[in-house]
Amino acid sequence: MAEPKLYAVSGRPILHSKSPDIFNALFAQQNISSVYTRLSARSAEEALFLFKELGMSGMNITAPLKQDMLERLSDIDSASAKIGGVNVVQRTAEALKGRNTDHRGVVDSLHKRDIPTRNQRCLVLGAGAAARAAAYGLLHNGAVVVLVNRTYAKAQDAAKILNCQAHPWEELETHLDSAHILVSAVSARLSPVKAEWLRSSLVVLDAKYPQSHLCDEAEKRGCRVIRGEEWLLNQAIPVFELFTGKIPDENLMREVLASCNTLTNKPRNIALIGFMGCGKTTIGKGLAARLNYKFQDTDSLIEEQEGRTIPEIFHSEGEAYFRRVEKRILGKLEERQGYIWACGGGSVMDPGNHKVLADNALVIWLYSSLATSFRRIEPGTRPLLDGEASKKVATELLHARLPLYAQASDMVLSSEGTPEDIVDGIYAEID
Ligand code: S3P
Repeated sequence: MAEPKLYAVSGRPILHSKSPDIFNALFAQQNISSVYTRLSARSAEEALFLFKELGMSGMNITAPLKQDMLERLSDIDSASAKIGGVNVVQRTAEALKGRNTDHRGVVDSLHKRDIPTRNQRCLVLGAGAAARAAAYGLLHNGAVVVLVNRTYAKAQDAAKILNCQAHPWEELETHLDSAHILVSAVSARLSPVKAEWLRSSLVVLDAKYPQSHLCDEAEKRGCRVIRGEEWLLNQAIPVFELFTGKIPDENLMREVLASCNTLTNKPRNIALIGFMGCGKTTIGKGLAARLNYKFQDTDSLIEEQEGRTIPEIFHSEGEAYFRRVEKRILGKLEERQGYIWACGGGSVMDPGNHKVLADNALVIWLYSSLATSFRRIEPGTRPLLDGEASKKVATELLHARLPLYAQASDMVLSSEGTPEDIVDGIYAEID
C-alpha cells in the first residue's frame, strides 16, 4: 500500500482546531490513505520547515500565519493576492501553491441558508486576513462592504485594495445600525459589539469557534446566527477537493463538528512523542516545572523496573521483549493524572499504545531534524542506532514512523529551538 500522505492545519494557537477531526473522518470514509494533524508554529517559516521536513502534501493555514505564508510562496492565485493571505498550501510537482477558500466559506455559509448578499450592507469587523477574505467574497457577490477595525489605518489599507469602505472603530454602532449582515473576524480577546446593538433583523456570522459570546448574544436577541463551525466547514469543502480531487460528504462533516471534543481543556496528562534526540526529556522537564505537573520518562521507568540499561535489555533480550515492557509501562498512564510523559521514540509502533495515549493524555509530537537529533544523542545510549550505518538506519526508521507519529499525536511542534522557546510554545497552546 502507498504510504499515507500527511496534512495539517497550521497556526498558533492551533489546539482548538477541528479541521483534523473533519479531514480524518472524510479520509476514513473514502478510504483515502492520509493523516491530518495540527501543526503549531509561531511563523510561516517554522511551519514551512516542518512541512518540508515531514514531506507533507498540504496544509490549512490559520491565524496568525495567513499573510506571512502568502509572502513566502511564489504560486499564488489572484484571490489570495487581493486578500493578502492564504488559508491553503498545496504541494504540487512544480511548487508550493497558495490558495484562499475563506471567502467561499463566508459566502457559501450565507447562501446555503438562503441569505442573499446582493445589495446587502455587510459590516466586516477586523482587517486581518480572515476579515479581508470575508470582504472579498461579499464584494464579489454583490454586497456593499464596510470594514471596521481597531487600527483604522489597517482597515483603510485593506479597503483601498479591495475597493470598499473603511470606518473608524468609534463609528461601529452607527454602521451596525444600517447593516444587514455582521461578519466578525476579530481576535478572540476583543468583543466590541454591545448586546443592545444587535437587532433581530441582523444576520450575525462569527469566525470564532467553538465559543462565541457574540453568537450567544445574537441568538438571545433573535438574530439569524451563523457560527464559526459553518464557516470552517464551507472553507474546508474546496480544500478537501483540492487535496484529494474528491467531493466530501457534507453531512459527515456536520456530524463530526457537532460531536467532536475540543482539546482546549487542561489535559489530564501530556505525552511527548517523537524520534530519538528530539528533546522529549529536556522539554518534558521544563514543561512539568512550568505547568506544575510531575515528570516521567518511560525509558527510565523501564530501566528501573528491569534493573539494567536500555542497551543491556536490547542486547540480552532483543527489541520485541523491550517493546512488551514499554507497552506495560505506558499502560500505567491510565492510573496517573498531572504527568508529563516522555515516551520512547518507538512507542508509537504499537497501535495499542496510540489508544492508551489518546485516552489519557494530550499527545504532542516534537520534531527536530536528524542532524539536530544526532547532535543531542549521547553515543552508546540508543541500541537501534549502534553501528556504522546509524545515519542510514535513522533515516529509514524516521521515515517509516512519520505517519505513526502523526496518527498518534494531537499536534506537532518543531523542537529545533531552545528548550525555553519550545516550552513557551506548548504553554501558549495549553494556557
Ligand atoms: C527507541 C527510542 C529510545 C529508547 C530505545 C528505542 C526507539 O528512547 O526507547 O532506545 O525505538 O526509537 P528515546 O526516544 O527517548 O531516545
